[in-house]
Amino acid sequence: MRTQVAIIGGGPAGLLLSQLLHRKGIDTVVLERRSRDYVLSRIRAGVLEWGAVELLREAGVGARMDAEGFPHDGTYLASENRGFRIDFVERTGKQVMVYGQTEVTRDLYEARDKMDGQIIDEAEGVTIHGADTDAPHVTYTKDGSEHRIDCDFIAGCDGFHGVSRKTIPGTVLREFERVYPFGWLGLLSETPPVDDELIYAQHSRGFALCSMRNANLSRYYLQVPLDDKVEDWSDDAFWAELKQRIPEDAAQRLVTGPSIEKSIAPLRSFVAEPMRWGRLFLAGDAAHIVPPTGAKGLNLAASDVHYLYNGLVQHYEGDDEGIETYSERALARVWKSERFSWSMTTLLHLFPDQSPFERRMQEAEFDYLAGSEAAQTALAENYVGLPY
Ligand code: FAD
Ligand code: DHB
Repeated sequence: MRTQVAIIGGGPAGLLLSQLLHRKGIDTVVLERRSRDYVLSRIRAGVLEWGAVELLREAGVGARMDAEGFPHDGTYLASENRGFRIDFVERTGKQVMVYGQTEVTRDLYEARDKMDGQIIDEAEGVTIHGADTDAPHVTYTKDGSEHRIDCDFIAGCDGFHGVSRKTIPGTVLREFERVYPFGWLGLLSETPPVDDELIYAQHSRGFALCSMRNANLSRYYLQVPLDDKVEDWSDDAFWAELKQRIPEDAAQRLVTGPSIEKSIAPLRSFVAEPMRWGRLFLAGDAAHIVPPTGAKGLNLAASDVHYLYNGLVQHYEGDDEGIETYSERALARVWKSERFSWSMTTLLHLFPDQSPFERRMQEAEFDYLAGSEAAQTALAENYVGLPY
């Protein structure tokens, strides 16, 4: 088989890139290791920056998001029993869109199917060959038989545990990492959200986040020790803990119910440089991970795709500047989102080995944010998304 761009990974980055390129007449094949049902059942991010919203519209997959998503004008930050609202629109003129990653992925799969896009799921043993030559190819196994795809370029959109980044020699790749000493326990329930905006809550028992998917679907998170298991947390224990960590008025109106999903995610900051090796380009979680505080993971995947898509389109029009500068341009934005996610995580979580001085620093930063329009503008500017 031959294609122009072989895309490894059928998550949001791979599907969005495939969809955008197809609309410009550039042929792609997406290779996904898992089944479609598995990919669509993963509950992940919930907040889209406006840049991502516009990119999804450009890809022709904005209709359901525009009809069913919820634009948010601000968010609430709490510490113990006090807090304040940051008004994104007032501070930056921009909103964010609450629309789940699961829905984004579903819309992308539907659009790819409608355009007869080639997505090969359950592709095993995907291997990249000759990425540093002018004639790369990818091999994989499907239903027991081996296949080969020759291509012009390979897009490594296969997430943190994929093969693409690992294909780049250690002499070329530099990795930067911070692992945080806690995880997030997430719970999804068919209950009305506690508020019409998100609540990020710092607390001496640990961080909590109140989020949502729609008028009757809520998503809540609790900071938990790294060695906690989902089985350690009954629904009742989760709700009781959440009530203790969020402001009293919110705790009183919180509607609880059975969970329909519960999972624990570790928190990590990670960046691999460069994001290009010859004809292989990394995008999304394959190149970088942010801790989820600040909702940047999916949004960074979208901005990488924006740069890569434009670079590839330019290439087929005869100009290589976009692909030559891809890594540099993507990384410039990645590092700023890494900084924001790290600073939000540091501000809002309880660190196990935290000294009383560090705790006071967090409180002082929280107070400063509460009272300073300039500080709120800086937070809002990052939260709604830095320009592409
Ligand atoms: P992925 O979504 O990881 O997609 C990569 C795809 O590649 C997957 O479908 C995978 O099956 C496939 N793949 C992997 N290896 C291979 C291979 N060898 N061959 C073929 N295919 C392969 N972000 C937030 O902003 N908020 C959140 O609450 C949040 N929660 C998260 C919870 C978890 C458990 C995880 C893992 C991430 C979370 N994120 C969250 C981050 C966000 O979901 C990611 O940043 C986003 O999914 C990145 O998209 P991607 O397409 O780059 O990678
Ligand atoms: C959600 C996740 C986040 O990490 C975040 O900062 C905001 C919302 C969510 O899953 O809804």
